Amino acid sequence: MIANDTLHWWQRGVVYQIYPRSFKDTTGNGVGDLQGVIDKLDYLQSLGIDALWLSPFYPSPMADFGYDVADYCDVDPLFGDLATFDRLVAEAHKRRLKIIIDWVPNHTSDQHPWFIESRRSRDNPKRDWYFWRDPAAGGGPPNNWGSFFGGPAWTYDASTGQYYLHQFCKEQPELNWRNPEVKAAMFDTLRFWMKRGVDGFRMDVIGLIIKDKDLRDNPPNPNAPANLPANDLFSRLLQVYNMDQDDVHPVLREIRGVLDEYDDRCGIGELWGPLDRWVKYYGEHGEELHLPFNFRLMDGMAWNAGQMRGVVDALEAALPDFAWPNYVLGNHDRTRLATRFGGQAQARVASMLLLTLRGTPTIYYGEEIGMEDVPIPPEKIQDPQGLNLGPERTRDVCRTPMQWDAGPNAGFSPAGVATWLPLADDYPARNVAALTDDPKSILSLYRRLLGLRRTRPALQGGSYRPVDVAYDDVYVYDRAVFAERYLVALNFAAEPRTLAIPGETTGRVLLSTHLDREEAVSLDALALRANEGVIIEL
Ligand code: NOJ
Repeated sequence: MIANDTLHWWQRGVVYQIYPRSFKDTTGNGVGDLQGVIDKLDYLQSLGIDALWLSPFYPSPMADFGYDVADYCDVDPLFGDLATFDRLVAEAHKRRLKIIIDWVPNHTSDQHPWFIESRRSRDNPKRDWYFWRDPAAGGGPPNNWGSFFGGPAWTYDASTGQYYLHQFCKEQPELNWRNPEVKAAMFDTLRFWMKRGVDGFRMDVIGLIIKDKDLRDNPPNPNAPANLPANDLFSRLLQVYNMDQDDVHPVLREIRGVLDEYDDRCGIGELWGPLDRWVKYYGEHGEELHLPFNFRLMDGMAWNAGQMRGVVDALEAALPDFAWPNYVLGNHDRTRLATRFGGQAQARVASMLLLTLRGTPTIYYGEEIGMEDVPIPPEKIQDPQGLNLGPERTRDVCRTPMQWDAGPNAGFSPAGVATWLPLADDYPARNVAALTDDPKSILSLYRRLLGLRRTRPALQGGSYRPVDVAYDDVYVYDRAVFAERYLVALNFAAEPRTLAIPGETTGRVLLSTHLDREEAVSLDALALRANEGVIIEL
């Protein structure tokens, strides 16, 4: 339990992820931009979130839609310019919204001036900024690593007769973080944005920045699915030597040192892996990341109350006292949560879970209106992962334009413009304007949840305690700070459940996911309808 006045903004607040290409297009080119984000700040403020995380807006050839950065200290003209960015920071701060930006330290674009120099000759001063290796003894790539996006993780460069490493697209060569010049240059990019007022960074694939010194072969994955596409070399191997090396931690401490040169900035890292290794990214005493992103309620999870509780309880048990939890249910790389968990009813219960657990929640744009995966015809696929590994792997499905209203192009782009990805068919009904007018909509539910969280200290910094009940498909926990206590009861079943809450007699329902009751209830026979979640004040 932590008293709320000692919480940092990144503990108390709720993060909202914006994929800038898909949020709001103000120039009429079918792609969202930073002015579009500025135009929607009032909406975001009224929604009740506290911080925006912007996926990359840097100059980029867009081989991986901005995760291939050609200049870490500028804005791609597609999205605006530095002056627009400065206005965005100022306007966000006026509304007490923090700005978190994506930082992509593992790889640059092959069009970054550093790489252009590096590939020029074997003795170029920037040669060692990247991984250049001779072909293997009998020819072919220097080791067996595969790219996340299919094919080998190495591309041969005929002009100098060596291969370079890239674990994503071949247009994303990897930086050598064992080289002190690389570190210094990248640290300066953090300072550049902090000086402009940026409050935090979401660090892309941060566990990949240090690889095995000898770049040894990865062992085969004995559990690789039999039906993998032929070019999915990555999934056929265990990821042992290409990521999560012990000596990444000293580098993370240095990165944290740079953040700490400025006041109250926050470092969030994109990380996976087993709990005992993941937890190390907080540092031994909290001297690494503030928040290693926690995808455990998202990746590989079925809609199952016991499984969800198991994940939360294991996390709570594994976290040292100084480590603050966080939860993510959706992002620009994963299927939409309404689609993943079975539908709108589940999405509503999931929103209550996300916004009432102990820890910082991250909401992906559009989840607040229940956006679902949009089927993308094969000829319209844009994502390199979908293009290389097959249409069923495309991430475009969760990156479609935000649905603002029932007008042309859902209010995302002006009428007549071809949007960069197709719009969802359901946008005439599922859009911000329509759902704002409906007091029982999922958007109204998000507003109520965010409002409650903001005004009830126990829902921010309070303790978490799971409560055992007679049904496996109902997940119950309480959140408490001093005498303030709430019970959250989530019915994952598609049928009603009536349960006794041990040790409690009565309470008051403050909010139901159905948005139709606020009433005193008896807790020895708490009746929950199918797919209903409630927050009860005790
Ligand atoms: C993780 C990002 O979330 C993803 O979108 C991107 O493709 C890879 N990192 C490579 O930067």
